[in-house]
Amino acid sequence: MAEATIHFPKGFLWGCATAAHQVEGNNTNNNWYYWEEQGRTRHKAGLACDWWGGRWREDMDRAAETGQNTHRLSIEWSRIQPTPDRWDEDALERYRAMLRGMNERGITPLVTLHHFSDPLWLFEQDSWENETVVPLFEKYVRKAVEALKEYTNLWCTINEPNVYALNGYVAGDFPTGKSGHKGMNLAMRVLVNMLRAHAAAYKAIHEIQREARVGYALHYRPMVAARSWMPLDALMRNIQYKGINMAFPTALRTGVMQSPLGNVRVPEVKGLQDYLGLNYYSVDTVKFDLFNPKELFARRYYPAHADLSATKFIANIPEGLFDSLQWAVKTYPDLPIIITENGVEDPDDRIRPRYLAQHIQQVWRAVNFNWPVKGYYHWSLIDNFEWERGWTQRFGLWGLDVETQARIRRPSVDLYAEICRENGLSSEMVRKYAPEVLEKMFPG
Ligand code: BGC
Repeated sequence: MAEATIHFPKGFLWGCATAAHQVEGNNTNNNWYYWEEQGRTRHKAGLACDWWGGRWREDMDRAAETGQNTHRLSIEWSRIQPTPDRWDEDALERYRAMLRGMNERGITPLVTLHHFSDPLWLFEQDSWENETVVPLFEKYVRKAVEALKEYTNLWCTINEPNVYALNGYVAGDFPTGKSGHKGMNLAMRVLVNMLRAHAAAYKAIHEIQREARVGYALHYRPMVAARSWMPLDALMRNIQYKGINMAFPTALRTGVMQSPLGNVRVPEVKGLQDYLGLNYYSVDTVKFDLFNPKELFARRYYPAHADLSATKFIANIPEGLFDSLQWAVKTYPDLPIIITENGVEDPDDRIRPRYLAQHIQQVWRAVNFNWPVKGYYHWSLIDNFEWERGWTQRFGLWGLDVETQARIRRPSVDLYAEICRENGLSSEMVRKYAPEVLEKMFPG
């Protein structure tokens, strides 16, 4: 075992990520509230972490006191524009207070403008299926950015367009709950509209704020074929990999969105990102499966020996983060990369300390190749409402008692605090928080 400390470049962004509907509470004017009322989720968001009630203050105190210098949050379109013809200035004022509060604590906000939730009025007009959403989104973005530009220049237009489209139109777990062949067609339309909306928002934000840095967050899913000798596994892996990952990245690189249902020209989006936001959680193994026509004859799973999270939702595969960063650098040489999400669900903090340490070591490997990785956002600061899975998964550094709103400090809080303060990671920290991977991480 070698004693060592690995360091990150000066000014590296260390923080956590959250999303409006998952933390704010009492968010009753959007598609997710409707979905919850329809009984389509395991639980209801309810008060969530009560950020709308003001508890963002104590949580931002926690973030600042534990050495974090940035926070990624999202703002809720349905609060800012409750009906198509009305802006809610009080809601904007509350977001201004939130961002001001972050600045006062030395925390740079990264503001996501759309994170899965749509205003009910938009949902009633088929959400992102119609191209009318593009000017509507631009209008909302202009209003929000004008109001908030004083406090940040870091913007994320849309969170995980691929997850929104696939879960909402193919898997059917998210609103709109559509699936099948028709759903697939609609998913493609949604992605094209999201691309156009991203481009419109990118241009609008730069018009309003010259020094803005604008990107989107891609859910990037590395995949490996289950059996190297089996050509059908490789084929399925390639189809799934492209289908799930590539719509946005290819369109932003080439101006063409490729899809299994045909290519769509979107020249206006080419090159419009100032950084790549990368959400990385795990790697899928892909196998040909004749009995799974629903997923186009493929099955995505984790290998039996994997280091699995509490509900088996995530396998701890840290090298996948390095591979993702390598893919990003090859795809967009010189474009800054921000890891906009990475984390694991783990109520007992059994796996999180090693997941955290091992993933951060992989980020460091990437930084050592001089790849332009600028920051890391852990998902998440505090347990929050996990969409259709309700409160069954616990992603927070801090736990949350949903009944009492009490915050529960997990050991990972202190590990992440040491990492943020050191701007690095040491063998000492790993010995203290995740001794089981010490030899693997610092061999010698
Ligand atoms: C989403 C988050 C979510 C996390 C964990 C990401 O895909 O952006 O909203 O909580 O995954 O499931």
